[in-house]
Parts: sequence; C-alpha cells; structure tokens
Amino acid sequence: MTESASESTEATQSDTVAVGIDIGGTGIKGAIVNVATGELLTDRKKLPTPDGGEPDAIVATTKELLASLGDIPADASVGICFPAVVRHGRTMSAANVSKKWIGFEAEALFEKELGRDITFVNDADAAGYAEVTYGAAKGREGLIILTTLGTGIGTALIYNGVLIPNAELGHIQIDGGDYEPKAAYSAKEREDLSWKKWAKRLNTYYHELEALLSPDLFIVGGGVSKNYGDFFPLLELNTEIVVAELRNNAGIMGAARLSTTKSLRLE
Ligand code: BGC
Repeated sequence: MTESASESTEATQSDTVAVGIDIGGTGIKGAIVNVATGELLTDRKKLPTPDGGEPDAIVATTKELLASLGDIPADASVGICFPAVVRHGRTMSAANVSKKWIGFEAEALFEKELGRDITFVNDADAAGYAEVTYGAAKGREGLIILTTLGTGIGTALIYNGVLIPNAELGHIQIDGGDYEPKAAYSAKEREDLSWKKWAKRLNTYYHELEALLSPDLFIVGGGVSKNYGDFFPLLELNTEIVVAELRNNAGIMGAARLSTTKSLRLE
C-alpha cells in the first residue's frame, strides 16, 4: 500500500471501504475501494491466473493477492467477480475457464479459504454495476447494456437502476452458432482481423441485441475499448454507444460496491 493510500484508508474506515477482486482468464486483480466514490484506496495489484484456471489454484492465488493489499480494515467486506454465471454463490458455467467450475460451490470455498464473508458475482455484472454507479452511464435511465469485449463477451443488463444478473448475451446464437468466438476481441487477435472486418461482426452482433431488446444505451468495455476510435466510427447502429469510463477497474469497483449493498438495485 502506498503511504497516501494508507492514510486515506485509515481516514475512511467504515462501511464505505471494501475490497474488490476481479478474476479473469489471464489475471487476478484487486484493490481496496472507497465504495462511496469508487476511488481505489490502494494500488491495483495483479497476479497471473494459474494455468488451467482450476478452483484450488485460483483460490490460492486470490489469497495471495488479498494478503498483498496490506492492512484491510476488519469490517471491510470483500466482493469477487468471475467470468461465469453465478447463482446463489455457485458458478454454473465455464466458457473460458476450467470446466470444474460448472456447478461448483465457489462462494463457500472462497469464504472458507479466505476466512471472510464474501460476495461472489459475474464479472460483467460487476463492471456494469460500476459503470452505472460511477462511470459512463451514471444517472441514465432505461435499458443499458454493457458489453465487455475481451477473451469472451461479457454482458450486463441494467434497467432503470436494477441489474438483471447473468444476462450471458455474449453467447447469443447468430448464423446457427454461439457468436462469442466470432465477435470477441480474442477473435480479432486469433484471426488477425482488420478493424473493418472485426467491426462488421460487431455490427451484426449489436444489431441482434437491438432487435431483441431495443436498448437505450450500449457501453463498450474490455481492454480493447481504449482503441474505440478505431472501430466506433465503423459501427452503424440505431442505439447510442459509448466507451466504458472505468476501463480495467470496473470489475474491481463493482464487486466491491456489490459486497456492501448486497442488492442488485443501484443505490
Ligand atoms: C462468460 C461470461 C463472462 C464473459 C466475460 C463469457 O464467456 O460466459 O460469464 O461474463 O465471458 O468474461
């Protein structure tokens, strides 16, 4: 923890301080967060996700990450987000992680190993919750769809300030198959697609979401969102589309916030 971060943590030791941890396919990131403002009170720490992404190894790395954050206020809650459907603390899918997570009592294992009460949620839900609370869609009403374009496509649906969890719209069927492997950023990299070719697929994908759900706003997150200037101009949509503001910290901030509100209604 940096000196200034340590001072601000001490100054705000109350229910506004929480830990957010974002588990992804390549890295596990975390920080202590002021959930009133979304400000990170420590440097963001990152450790590589263990090869194979199996439960025991991921829990051990998460424990190490938590220890690296320094002194965590005793009353701070911990929120963890993960790239899978999460229902009542159980992970119910595994698109880009070990299949061992399917039907796994994830929240219970993390609570046992970390020795703390935790809140366990889907990664895109955490990011969407953060963008509506602190970022690109703060104060917006209507139907907002956050999409994270990375290894997979994460989606969060927020309607009039209520998060509808586990939307999993990254896996909608287009042309007879799951469209995630075609439109995720990993497809652009894997197939060495130009921005133009990739944007054509994104157009198809976002048009399908428009046809199904008539959203009021799309938010685009994920690492590639920093290059939005290369592909936003190539999208021809009927819906307003904006870049996520919180970038790589959205999952951390949303998981931390959700661990204190314990509610899908934004406050
Ligand atoms: C998973 C989602 C996750 C997304 C982004 C998808 O493959 O099915 O649960 O939110 O990747 O990590």
